[in-house]
Amino acid sequence: MSNSNHSYKAKKATFYGAGVGPGDPLLLTIKTHQLIQTADVISYLASTDGHSQARDIARHSLASRTSDAEEVVVTMPMSTDRSQANCAYDAAAQQLQKHLQAGKSVVFLCEGDPLFFGSFSYLLQRLSDDFSCQVVPGIASVNAASAALQQPLTLLQESFAVVSGRHTDQQIENTLQQHDSVVIMKAGLARPRILALLRKTGRWADGHYLEYIGRDNQRLVANLDELEDQTGPYFSLFVILRGERPA
Ligand SMILES: C[S@@+](CC[C@H](N)C(=O)[O-])C[C@H]1O[C@@H](n2cnc3c(N)ncnc32)[C@H](O)[C@@H]1O
Repeated sequence: MSNSNHSYKAKKATFYGAGVGPGDPLLLTIKTHQLIQTADVISYLASTDGHSQARDIARHSLASRTSDAEEVVVTMPMSTDRSQANCAYDAAAQQLQKHLQAGKSVVFLCEGDPLFFGSFSYLLQRLSDDFSCQVVPGIASVNAASAALQQPLTLLQESFAVVSGRHTDQQIENTLQQHDSVVIMKAGLARPRILALLRKTGRWADGHYLEYIGRDNQRLVANLDELEDQTGPYFSLFVILRGERPA
């Protein structure tokens, strides 16, 4: 809990999901920063090559700790096979459970917001029955995308929907037809399909493509004619906005 001097300390035997924002370390909240300073254990996902986007975003906060934290790396294979992911989450929950049972505070860092397509959600499912849990929201990639574009996501009566490249063609097509503003997450492998669907639904001119928002290698393509019709990085998304917006 916060106290009068606005400092926030990780509580013992508590499991925290803490958002670190979309990429710019300055978009990590003060609350998450203070949790990182005070937690006994810091955990995060990493790819099989050892890289962790969440840890990288939080690197300044980790470096400014007065003592080293114990770090629990949860290696996640890049696969659409949920059974592999579930095995990794089961093993991670068991490992984190031991720390919580020993009375330690555990902070799981999550890129963006922890409960928006966030890996923390799957650990929360596994640990919330037995342990005290808290969530610290983070700035999600959709918000960072609209800020980078300097375009509102929604205005007045405009409808807004979020889908992902893992949805079927039919689901994406229906969404593009039914909603004014659409964000398509997980666009990496799905980019050629998404481009075809934008053409098919007449939303090509409404589309914007962004990758690595807030990172040094951020790329923003406002005219889809300039985007290669090929797969791209995992950290990419499309924002589709009507050409004519309500006044
Ligand atoms: C597992 S979801 C995590 C979403 C995250 N929790 C959030 O709040 O934005 C991963 C997807 O989010 C999107 N994403 C997250 N960060 C991004 C960034 N910095 N730039 C572009 N896309 C990003 C991509 O579509 C990526 O495939």
